[in-house]
Amino acid sequence: MRYLSSSFKVGVLGGGQLGKMLAQAASRWDLPLWVLDESRSFPAGSVCTHFVEGNFRDYDDVLRFGRQVDVLTIEIESVNLEALFQLQDEGKIIHPKPEALAIIQDKGLQKQFFFDHNLPTAPYSLLDEEEALEAARGTWAPFPFVQKLRKGGYDGRGVSVIRSREDRNKILPGPSIFEPLVSIEKELAVIAARNPSGQVLSFPTVEMVFNPEANLVEWLLCPAQIDPALEQQAQELACRTIEAFQISGLLAVEMFLTTEGKLLLNEVAPRPHNSGHQTIEGCYTSQFEQHLRGILDLPLGSTRIKAPSVMVNLLGEPGFEGPVIYEGFEKCIAMEGVFPHIYGKAVTKPFRKMGHVTVIDSDMEATMEKARKVQHTLKVIA
Ligand SMILES: Nc1ncnc2c1ncn2[C@@H]1O[C@H](COP(=O)(O)OP(=O)(O)OP(=O)(O)O)[C@@H](O)[C@H]1O
Ligand SMILES: [Mg+2]
Repeated sequence: MRYLSSSFKVGVLGGGQLGKMLAQAASRWDLPLWVLDESRSFPAGSVCTHFVEGNFRDYDDVLRFGRQVDVLTIEIESVNLEALFQLQDEGKIIHPKPEALAIIQDKGLQKQFFFDHNLPTAPYSLLDEEEALEAARGTWAPFPFVQKLRKGGYDGRGVSVIRSREDRNKILPGPSIFEPLVSIEKELAVIAARNPSGQVLSFPTVEMVFNPEANLVEWLLCPAQIDPALEQQAQELACRTIEAFQISGLLAVEMFLTTEGKLLLNEVAPRPHNSGHQTIEGCYTSQFEQHLRGILDLPLGSTRIKAPSVMVNLLGEPGFEGPVIYEGFEKCIAMEGVFPHIYGKAVTKPFRKMGHVTVIDSDMEATMEKARKVQHTLKVIA
């Protein structure tokens, strides 16, 4: 293997927690991993091989960084695309490819792509700023609907549910897509992986449980509590989606299971994803290692479950802002099968993602009970 213990470098745009966990996976194989982000005090700074300070949204910074590495990948979508196209023209290996990223960066193009490839998703309309305001006045859309900014949204920011005319002040400024409010039974996610040789594998479906106040995923169950036929359908849909995009590395595929029992695509992310963290302890291969395998055209690893798992996001407690304290940490690590991941963000804010804990046990019921205990014990405060 020419990559290992050599000067072959993997470059990652973004140095948050996903970059950190990618670096941890790379380090097990002694694979040099370089990171570009604004400050080496960010989560990946303490564990990557080499940290370059710069802005992944800036053309020159991305170009300079990309020229120094052998393979380039991302941990966040909002990177400078023009620089990626330029690097690709120069012969750099980039995964996901800038063509696919251009579609995924824009929720309008993403939805159009789903329709063009017969991938089931909710109907939508594209609206510019003026039309969004018209909708706010109640002259455009049937209520209730969901407005999503085409670009730049994450963690639920950039998404607004408009139930009636009274919600008009919740309309977000900017080019958007509008979708009818889907009647959701469950939110599911499947992480699919592909390598340039064309091998495709997907991880077992996970089920997301939301914190209604923050509209952030609070809990994640793996395997999802769904029947085997539906599990099969979700796996097939995720694999069809990654094939359609021809992406190498990971594609996280978020889906809605409607109350009528249908699966609809919500959105995709071509990178490691919050809904795959439990793979580190719960599956034979972690999503981070799988991403590296995918982008380096190595054989994909087994996605089989070792133990049922629950992933608990560690969100900053509301009402606390400042230097972070993890209250109850000792009690948590005294329990069997409890694996905290602390991202290393110096300051906590209400609902900020500060870490996660994966809990495993012999069956889902025991796992959930322990996860509940962890959730009550471990608090992120200032
Ligand atoms: N059409 C819809 N009908 C009902 N609920 C929806 C709809 N679209 C989005 N939602 C809700 O809003 C959440 C966030 O939407 P979406 O995943 O598109 O936004 P995001 O901010 O890009 O996501 P992420 O939290 O994954 O970064 C969804 O997980 C779901 O709970
Ligand atoms: Mg989402």
